[in-house]
Amino acid sequence: MSLLVSSAASGTSTPASSAPSSADPVAVPFPSSEAAVSSASSASAPAAPGPLPVLGLDVRAPLVTGGELPYAALDYAASAPVLRSVWDDVAAYAPYYGSVHRGAGYLSQRSTAVFEESRAAVARFLGCREDDEVLFTRSTTDSLNLLASALPSGTRVFVFETEHHASLLPWRGPGLRTVHLDAPRSPEQAVATLERALAEAPEGPKLVCVTGASNVTGEVWPVRRLARAAHRHGARIVLDAAQLVPHRPVDIGELDVDWVAFSGHKLYAPFGAGVLAGRTDWLHAAEPYLAGGGASRTVARSADGGVEVEWQSGPARHEAGSPNVIGAYALASACRALTEAGFDDVAARERRLTERLLAGLGELPQVRVLSLFGADGDAAGDGTDAGRSGNAEDAAGAAARHRVGVVSFVVEGWNSSHLAAALSAEYGIGVRDGLFCAHPLLAALLGAGRGASGECGAPEGGSLNAVRVSIGAGTPDEHVERFLRAVRELVRDGARWRYVTQDGRCVPEPSA
Ligand SMILES: Cc1ncc(COP(=O)(O)O)c(C=O)c1O
Repeated sequence: MSLLVSSAASGTSTPASSAPSSADPVAVPFPSSEAAVSSASSASAPAAPGPLPVLGLDVRAPLVTGGELPYAALDYAASAPVLRSVWDDVAAYAPYYGSVHRGAGYLSQRSTAVFEESRAAVARFLGCREDDEVLFTRSTTDSLNLLASALPSGTRVFVFETEHHASLLPWRGPGLRTVHLDAPRSPEQAVATLERALAEAPEGPKLVCVTGASNVTGEVWPVRRLARAAHRHGARIVLDAAQLVPHRPVDIGELDVDWVAFSGHKLYAPFGAGVLAGRTDWLHAAEPYLAGGGASRTVARSADGGVEVEWQSGPARHEAGSPNVIGAYALASACRALTEAGFDDVAARERRLTERLLAGLGELPQVRVLSLFGADGDAAGDGTDAGRSGNAEDAAGAAARHRVGVVSFVVEGWNSSHLAAALSAEYGIGVRDGLFCAHPLLAALLGAGRGASGECGAPEGGSLNAVRVSIGAGTPDEHVERFLRAVRELVRDGARWRYVTQDGRCVPEPSA
């Protein structure tokens, strides 16, 4: 890894190794000895196509049936493990941590430089346009709520019912109107539905909010085509990239979206930072998202006895309070790690594992993998869909091309909470079960008539919940193989332990 190293004496930046590329690393204003530590630790990362090193692979999970196994984290879609290089970078920076923006001291200046360079690194990672800006937030949820707070009064927001609640719900504030669009059953239908809704809308500001990849089905949405439709009708578009950015390169200019939102904790950098990147005009015209220090340029008592504020322009306007410099730095470090590993190679390896997941689950007739778009899921519209050949492996391969590594499914005769509990307690595997903060989507996929989750064991008439398995850059092949073997055995032989319902979830019975 090349690092830009500031001379401690002069504060000027010089290349530490080879000339920086267009995917420049964060300029870390460390003395060169510390930079060497950071550089060496990160440089040990093996190149793709192996998994990228993440923490937690040696954690052993106790089994209810006795013994223990290395924990298999297959819940990347909720929160991904931390990349080792991110952890090392944070550890190397930690002694230099200081207050950002307002301190005159040496470490404050260095931390301010780290924070601003992290912003620049994220902008490069996203291919931001010249007049875009990157705001650091707490998460995708925070980013979308920030944008909602900055929309011009009267904005109509168009959102599919299939969105994660973080994208579905922020647009309910005063002065906004939300148009909810029915679940489309193909990428073409998504574009046509949006076109129709926009064409019928009256004049005025409009925003489309759409996911890049579903947190339930993993299916990739036709973002470029939706952006084209939005812009054709004078609307803007924000991409909820929470599930896309960790799995595929996202270029804001190439996709031609107006904003992108994502979270660090899904991008191997769980230090509390998220991003909203994109157009500045609406953001600069809006009241600050949070009122407080940092967002205000001047504050003075007014003639009427109150207080008058002149707000900042630029990112500071919406970043009031003390910035999360470690979170921002970690997030930028993850961007750099993916770029340096060759993001296309990382994505190709994930695609192979996703294909293996889909093919393995496809061999079990009791398993139904959830899909909104079915065999017509060619979101990019590139005509590469081989899924119609009727061959199961071809179908898995085609489906994997149109998904990130997120697969949800239900098993005939199984309550999903029961299956997830058995995977954990008997195989040391962590997956997610439930409705994944996408209740209308689950209702569309499973049928709203299905009853709520019942007791553990085979539910009467099914349950409105599913199991989600999700992978990422750090997933070893063994985790996927263990998961497939576990589902096969559980479906064939049943659980080896007894489970009871506690607070609505299945848990192993302590005395079984
Ligand atoms: C598609 C999608 N959007 C938004 C979010 C919200 O992310 P966060 O909880 O980090 O705010 C999630 C989280 O799972 C998600 O999957």
